[in-house]
Amino acid sequence: MNLTGNRIFVTIVYTSGELLVETFRGEYRDLKCLIQDRLYSEEFGQCGGMGKCGTCLVEISGLTGEAASLKRNEATTLDRLASCRPEVRLACQVPVDSSLSNLFVKILSDH
Ligand code: FES
Repeated sequence: MNLTGNRIFVTIVYTSGELLVETFRGEYRDLKCLIQDRLYSEEFGQCGGMGKCGTCLVEISGLTGEAASLKRNEATTLDRLASCRPEVRLACQVPVDSSLSNLFVKILSDH
């Protein structure tokens, strides 16, 4: 299986540093899963990706395509958290695909 064309590089920025992650399309269901696996404990994203808890807040600039639009409960949860900036997203609602390539993802929910 040739994954070269599907390689995705994304930089995760957190409180005490940053981590360049290499992944590929299909390795992770969403950005929350990637962050939990590569960097954080289970406390990141406590509702398991339902888009309700708001513990997976991230800031991403430059998303395009389908990844740029809010999904499921995301608008309601972001509104409840008083986040009206378009670059603030729920990691559990952001797919891991080529639109993340070479972007920086800043974790806003620290646990
Ligand atoms: S995991 Fe709960 S809102 Fe994303």
